[in-house]
Amino acid sequence: MDLTPSFLVCLFIFSSSALFLFFRRRNFTPGKLPPGPPGWPILGNMFDLGTMPHRTLTGLRDKYGEVIWLRLGTVNTMAILSAKAAAELFKNHDLSFAERNITDTMRAHDYHKSSVALAPYGSYWRVLRRLVTVDMLVNKRINETASIRRKCVDNMLQWIEDEACKVKGESHGNGIHVARFVFLLTFNLLGNLMLSRDLFDPDSKEGSEFFMTMLSLMTLSGQGNIADFFPWLQWLDPQGLKRKMEKDLGKAIEIASKFVKERMEEKKIGKDKRDFLDLLIEFEGNGKDEPAKLSDKDLNIFILEIFLAGSETTSSTIEWAFTELLCNPDTMIKAKAELTRVVGPNRKVEENDIENLHYLNAVIKETFRLHPPIPFLIPRRAIQDTNFMGYHIPKNTQVFVNAWAIGRDPEVWVDPLSFKPDRFIGSKIEYKGNHYELIPFGAGRRMCAGVALADRVLHLVLGSLLHHFDWELGGNVTKETIDMKDILGVTMRKLEPLLAVPKKPRTSAD
Ligand code: HEM
Repeated sequence: MDLTPSFLVCLFIFSSSALFLFFRRRNFTPGKLPPGPPGWPILGNMFDLGTMPHRTLTGLRDKYGEVIWLRLGTVNTMAILSAKAAAELFKNHDLSFAERNITDTMRAHDYHKSSVALAPYGSYWRVLRRLVTVDMLVNKRINETASIRRKCVDNMLQWIEDEACKVKGESHGNGIHVARFVFLLTFNLLGNLMLSRDLFDPDSKEGSEFFMTMLSLMTLSGQGNIADFFPWLQWLDPQGLKRKMEKDLGKAIEIASKFVKERMEEKKIGKDKRDFLDLLIEFEGNGKDEPAKLSDKDLNIFILEIFLAGSETTSSTIEWAFTELLCNPDTMIKAKAELTRVVGPNRKVEENDIENLHYLNAVIKETFRLHPPIPFLIPRRAIQDTNFMGYHIPKNTQVFVNAWAIGRDPEVWVDPLSFKPDRFIGSKIEYKGNHYELIPFGAGRRMCAGVALADRVLHLVLGSLLHHFDWELGGNVTKETIDMKDILGVTMRKLEPLLAVPKKPRTSAD
């Protein structure tokens, strides 16, 4: 065998690193780590998880238990797989795990430094979070913007009607891609709340450029990056993801900054829009432990973040809700019957109907239980060494809270794999962060800041789509043949987009 010197050097580096990592994991930590699959030298468990890590980890629960230890390249990772362990984390150790794990692409243009979702747990994060939850998305303010949501939902219903007419001429059963229309609706809705403008507007060049750039950012931020597992590869950026992110994020920031500049000019001549952007521009901090003003960069990144956080999460939830309703026709019948009873055949669904739409609410909860759009939440990071459920969790450990596994935890849910909204009728379980068995929005200090708005939009959109049209499965699939696989990007979407055929009921409101 021809063992060249360079091969021997590589072999030496490889085996010494493997030994180092092996001993570091097993013997040199001051306490016991959670159990987990052994993994490979150097690579650890990187390739054990496959393309559906939320499913793979759920499958490991029987063997290793509710808290699992993984090594993803060099990144220590703890996965939480049960409602009991999630409750322990959020109730008793939330502060210890209040930091985020920052991926390399999110360092492009120092995005992570201005972002609410990734900001270190501290005063800047507190200021931004307060702006979102208290100044922008408090119930009173959400109520004041009901007419914007009405307009956006009406537009969506009209787009769908137009598309349905086009598709009708084609072979029966092709259907329309419902999630695409919901995505466009949320994009315009957030555009109106944030910037008082429709961003998906075929007549606006800037709007469509912004829309396309944001789509690209979402694709990029959902891709796995080897440089996150081996930080010493970051300078090389082996998949070129950071370079692409620098380019696209740069473009998005440039467009956002034009929106901000235009607004500044308008304000100079006394025009007041009273939207989120005005609130951000007018923000005045104490200048001591919080900034006196938000910088231009903070403003631009804040704008982008609201779109990243709110659009695909909403559209993929509606897509899964529709898929489940179409595959379980008795649930579709019940949801529509409730809408007919509460709203009646001659008017549209309004936001103040929501409190009486108990079955619709149960459908949304059941959809979240089986298909949480962000199955690992946004990964946390340990601020300090922590004793968690008898295990020693070292500082900087990344934490995946597997909301997908928790929603299917057989210790908590009866018949966990079936779609049964009725399980929530008369139940007190909510998804607002107090019931750890249902945590699509997370829980604790870093829980979703947009839950109040998302809750309102989901009920209004799903209710309107169901009330306005009758629906059938399209794309020549039946409930027996439909592909229910998911794919993990920014959110967990349906791998095969749902195609559905809308039929306008004769008695429906116009
Ligand atoms: C169906 C819709 C949505 C879902 C399922 C969702 C889910 C989530 C999840 C799982 C997190 C991480 C929570 C954690 O780590 O514990 C999060 C964070 C966040 N979400 Fe949402 N979200 C949705 C809509 C929205 C909307 C509409 C907005 C804003 C308008 C928004 C803004 C945020 C922000 C700012 C954070 C970061 C919070 C922090 O780190 O303090 N989200 N979201």
